[in-house]
Amino acid sequence: MAETREDQVFLEPGVKIELLAGRWFAWPHLIAPVQHAMNIAYRHLPLMQSFVATPQVHIAASKDPNMLGGPFLDLPETAIPEIKTLIEHTATQFAELIAFARDFKAFDQVLQDGAKGYCLSEFYGRMPASLAGAIEISYDVNNNPALRAIEEIVYKYHLDNRSTQEICLSRTKDSDRKFFMTTPRVSAPDTLFTSVNFSDARLDTISSMRTQAGSLQEASKSLDVDSSKQAIFESFFTPEAPERKSPRYSGDDVRVRYFGHACVLIQTAQTSILLDPTVTWDADDRDGRLTFSDLPDTIDFVVISHCHQDHFSPELLVQLRNRVRRIIVPRNGGGNIADPSMKLILQRLGYGNIDVVDAFDEIRFDEGKIVSLPFSGEHADLNVHSKQTILIEVKGRRFFFLVDSDAIDPGLYKLVTEIIGRPDASFIGMECFGAPLTWLYGPLLTKPISRRNDESRRLSASNCERAWRLMKDLGCPKAFIYAMGQEPWLRYLMGLEYKPDSIQLTQARNFVQRCVDAGIEVEHLNIVRELTF
Ligand SMILES: [Fe+2]
Ligand SMILES: [Fe+2]
Repeated sequence: MAETREDQVFLEPGVKIELLAGRWFAWPHLIAPVQHAMNIAYRHLPLMQSFVATPQVHIAASKDPNMLGGPFLDLPETAIPEIKTLIEHTATQFAELIAFARDFKAFDQVLQDGAKGYCLSEFYGRMPASLAGAIEISYDVNNNPALRAIEEIVYKYHLDNRSTQEICLSRTKDSDRKFFMTTPRVSAPDTLFTSVNFSDARLDTISSMRTQAGSLQEASKSLDVDSSKQAIFESFFTPEAPERKSPRYSGDDVRVRYFGHACVLIQTAQTSILLDPTVTWDADDRDGRLTFSDLPDTIDFVVISHCHQDHFSPELLVQLRNRVRRIIVPRNGGGNIADPSMKLILQRLGYGNIDVVDAFDEIRFDEGKIVSLPFSGEHADLNVHSKQTILIEVKGRRFFFLVDSDAIDPGLYKLVTEIIGRPDASFIGMECFGAPLTWLYGPLLTKPISRRNDESRRLSASNCERAWRLMKDLGCPKAFIYAMGQEPWLRYLMGLEYKPDSIQLTQARNFVQRCVDAGIEVEHLNIVRELTF
């Protein structure tokens, strides 16, 4: 049938395209195969089994705001049959990954118990077949033994975790999305699941329809939408173009747009640089927030600071990939499994134009440069290298993004400033009381950790004292507090809801006061902000 103009439609701005792996929200650790295996075996299966066994406990905990982000499925009792089926499917579809995870953990235990500083070659003979070829065994310089997954091999030849990749289309508000790490997605009216690999170019057809009209027929065909689901699919589209708040900037200055959390867009008439893309899809006139629709059609550089879910969003990156010229990520250490390669994850999301950088590497462009700089802490004292703070110099203006750095070492940023010079404005993350180690990394640990150890090791950014010292070390005239996870649309990613007297907000207020007292310009960013420099 020939296409008509009426067939040309847009995807409604508020429609979500969630990426799922085995029905779980695909954050970066569910794309990297080893980390995915560990999460299935030591998070997803135990959580789902616990829900089926004692649903009342999960239901009660989910209603308690103090338990937000805790290890509970936020689902009603009626979801039990679907979760039972999901447990069975998970055990079958991921049998190879589950075996790998169990063998990895058990073999690491053998190594920890048996390696006493002597040559490690005998351990290769004891390695389970599921790990052979993909693991190197070594000591650190102090004779502590460790397993290293050779990620390039695991991805290419060892574990395939893509068979259950799918997207879920719905109109669920960002503020109503279930917490990403503990609740799988289940069927609901007006929700459509369809299988597609995240790197599949077919996803570009639908994501481009957010801003350019396209053919509904083609979109439906490209995603193999079942005829019984056709009506739901069609309901997600509209003939109306989205409202866009001047996505291009044509002035002579540098425009800085804060999209919420750590997502900042720096634009000139010629260049656009997007940091840590995590935006909301839901417009709201009451607070004037910027949304996905307000992003420009071409983005010269996307820069990702680190591999936490609130900074590295596969869902958004897949839908942006047609617009991004280059994407910049920090190199991982190639060691432990808490530090997966961000490059390999991006390749699985269909990116080819990836720059992997080390500290002090510079990426130059006509109007300036992007410099990768050290990022201290915030990873519960794990040896993680894939993190960077970022200096952006554009048209002579210099912006320093400290992201979640805890700035614990008083010498570090003093030295950095001596090397790079004084920035004009600094953006400092102050989520200073982060979750404990096991919250994010628990499934990757092969030895149990005591509660007291766990409580002491947190994913915390700078507090007032450290942020203030940082400001003095940088000699910077302007500070912005950001990356606090305050925006209401981030609940499902942060598991966080502040009260006015929350320690993070108190520390931020104290920092503001210290800056004011010292005559430093300061602003606590929340929801939206537009500035020109
Ligand atoms: Fe972080
Ligand atoms: Fe963060």
